[in-house]
Amino acid sequence: MNTATPFSGAAHDGLNRGVAPVTYGQGDRPPRGDYGRAKSDYTCEQLHERYTETDHDTYRRLFARQRAQLPGLACEEFIDAVERLGSPDCIPSLAEISHRLKPVSGWELVAVPGLIPEEAFFALLAERRFPVTDWIRRPEEFDYVVEPDIFHDLFGHVPLLFNPLFADYMQAYGRGGLKASRLEACEQLARLYWYTVEFGLIDTPKGLRAYGAGILSSAGELMHSVRSPAPLRLPFDLERLMRSRYRIDSFQSTYFVIESFQQLFDATAQDFAPIYPRVRAVPDIEAGEVLPHEKVISLR
Ligand SMILES: [Fe+2]
Repeated sequence: MNTATPFSGAAHDGLNRGVAPVTYGQGDRPPRGDYGRAKSDYTCEQLHERYTETDHDTYRRLFARQRAQLPGLACEEFIDAVERLGSPDCIPSLAEISHRLKPVSGWELVAVPGLIPEEAFFALLAERRFPVTDWIRRPEEFDYVVEPDIFHDLFGHVPLLFNPLFADYMQAYGRGGLKASRLEACEQLARLYWYTVEFGLIDTPKGLRAYGAGILSSAGELMHSVRSPAPLRLPFDLERLMRSRYRIDSFQSTYFVIESFQQLFDATAQDFAPIYPRVRAVPDIEAGEVLPHEKVISLR
């Protein structure tokens, strides 16, 4: 999680110089994106006029494909809010979405050149500013892009920022992240993000539904996570989850299921400082591994 990646982007006076813009997510390659435009907090301007017709077309096709899959697989809160992203026909202006979002949950969107350091990421979340990558994948990456692009960040993450409870959870996560950095517990906290914000499932009266952005922005994982008998599904348990490793190169083999956003918010409202040493004192659990006493959630 904390792997530093060499950064060879251009540096201008007053801009980030020699700082590895790694992080949320990880990899061995330098991150993609024009970090020379970034300010000291890693935000940049969304240069909307720079998007090409091809970029808009990629967004339009991605949006249409994902939206068609949502009924019966995504949670209602997400489906209701997707429409608030604006026209699905072209890459939207982040400022315009912020204009609608801020009165509802106090959040605004800010453009970033790509992956940014953990501390910068946490600081933005703590200020209710959600970083959105400003570039979109190339057409040949239509089905899979290694780093999050504007489609993943917008379509996957932003709808639930319209939900006041989930929006509060995201801010609390940012504050928790700043603390975790001081406690050297970012790996444990990153697992919480991974298994909730990115790959979380929620139990609803109509059955399991997805709320995680990594699932909702993926062409294949939405169906896999909600309907396939293959993956392991476990009830949300904070410490179990912090012990759980995850895969970044395939669909998840373990998902954690929350009962409600309230449960998620309440379970994570406590101070994690005494939890981290406890979690680190016991072995990690591999993705897909089930412990002897664990109750697995089966599909109805
Ligand atoms: Fe994401």
